[in-house]
Parts: sequence; structure tokens; C-alpha cells
Amino acid sequence: MHGEKTASRTGRSVDIPATQPMSSPQEQWSAVDRYLADLLVPSDPVLEAALESSAASGLPEIQVSANQGKLLELLARIQGARKILELGTLGGYSTIWLARALPAGGQLVTLEADPKHAAVARANIARAGLEAIVDLRVGPALETLPLIEAECRGPFDLIFLDADKPGYPDYLPWLLKLSRRGTLIIADNVVRDGAVIEADSADPKVQGVRRFNQLLANEPRVRATAIQTVGSKGYDGFAIALVIGEPRDGQRRPPA
Ligand code: SAH
Ligand code: DHB
Ligand code: MG
Repeated sequence: MHGEKTASRTGRSVDIPATQPMSSPQEQWSAVDRYLADLLVPSDPVLEAALESSAASGLPEIQVSANQGKLLELLARIQGARKILELGTLGGYSTIWLARALPAGGQLVTLEADPKHAAVARANIARAGLEAIVDLRVGPALETLPLIEAECRGPFDLIFLDADKPGYPDYLPWLLKLSRRGTLIIADNVVRDGAVIEADSADPKVQGVRRFNQLLANEPRVRATAIQTVGSKGYDGFAIALVIGEPRDGQRRPPA
């Protein structure tokens, strides 16, 4: 299967490179990620432009991969999400994937602390024709989350947590406040190259996701799991939590 041409689902001819020894696991993860994305995630001018403008503006290339973006879209569709909350917009790449899953009348609120990232995201979201659907709030999430709550923007059907990792433990109570029974919470980067098992890690990002995972484990209002992922973005993972209880002691719903 090497050194041939094959047809992808999009009809593009895909070159399979001649046999080369895979010199590192990362090379193999990236090659397989590329293979899957070529087959299943047809390249899209709007998403490509978002990546290009983000890179040209000097944003760190830490957005989800194409395959992960499509996974987010599929999860939002499976969930039938009409209201989505995202923490950590960066250049809006995952935002565009998620917003595209929304039905007519759907809304996405995305929170970004860095005004430079937010400006790049705003342009990318506008190019995607999603500015009427996406509400981008600039400021540290711990400052904007109370406003979102005060404005009664929730409860959200799906929440994607992807902001600063040391902050993850502090965000969880807010995510629960902004949830309903059945809300799906997805947290990115909870494995950190495997460093998540290093209890004594000096890395505040590792400590943040460790504490977050522990809080999920202790939280009776959610059923959660986490999966390790490899691919073009390295070795990391997602936590997925389904809210099964009423976050505010039933305040949101009259007793049956
Ligand atoms: N979700 C994006 C990637 C987000 S990267 C994607 O996959 O396309 C993490 C982002 O969180 C960065 O843009 C960073 O500026 C932002 N961030 C960091 N601290 C934050 C905070 N306190 N509140 C909100 N956003 C924050
Ligand atoms: C980092 C943040 C992310 O959201 C990500 O997907 C990868 C890395 C980081 O801050 O290192
Ligand atoms: Mg991330």
C-alpha cells in the first residue's frame, strides 16, 4: 500500500508516500491522523483560512486537530445542542466546528482572555458567516462566567472547556451552574503527554488537570470518563462528563 495513489471520498487523489521507516511515534500518529482526515474530514476553505490567519498572526498552534474538530461537531449533533458554551477561543477554530453543528436559532458563547486572540477569532468567525450565532466575550473566564450566568444565557446543552489548564478546577463549579440535567461537558488536554499521572509534577498545567479530573471523580452530579488520544497534536486526552443531577438542588425545575 505504499507509493500508490488512491482516491479519497472527496475525489481528490491522495499520495501515499513510499515506504519509509517511521522514526518516531509522533510521526506515525501524524501520518495516521492525516490519513483519517484526508478520508473523513474534507478540507474546507473557511477552516483552512482560520488556521492560516491564526498562524500568520502568531497565535500558538494549539487548536484542536481537524479530526478532533469533527468529533466536537459530531458530539454537538448527537447531543442535539442548541446552546453551546466554550472556554478558550484562541483563533476560533474549534468555535467554528461547534457552531456549525447548531440548528437554526442555536447560539454559541465563547470566552477568551487574550484580546489579540479574540480579534483574530472575530475575523475568522465572520469569514465563516457565524457572527450572528457566536457571542465572543473577551476577558478572563472567571470574570465573564458570572456575567453569562447573570444574563441567564444558560443552561447550555454542551460545554467545551479548553482555556488555561491551571484554571480548570475553578471553572467546574461554573460549568455545573450553567448546566442542566443532560448537559455534556467536554474538557480538552487532560492527559498532557502522560504527565497527568505525575502526582508531584511542578507543572501548574498538569496540577490543574489532575485537580480537575479528581473533582470530576468526586462530583455526584456527573457521570464522567476520560480517553487518551494520539494524533497530529501529540499525546493528550479528553474528559467527557454527562450532568445527571440538578446542579442547583432542583431550583431550575419544579418537582415532578
Ligand atoms: N479552543 C481552541 C484552543 C484554545 S487554546 C481551539 O481548539 O481552536 C486556549 C485559549 O484559552 C487561549 O486562546 C488562551 O488565551 C485562552 N485563555 C487563557 N486563559 C484564559 C482565561 N483565564 N479565560 C479565558 N480564556 C483564557
Ligand atoms: C495547550 C493548550 C491547549 O488547549 C491545547 O490543546 C494544547 C496545549 C497549552 O496551553 O499548552
Ligand atoms: Mg486544547
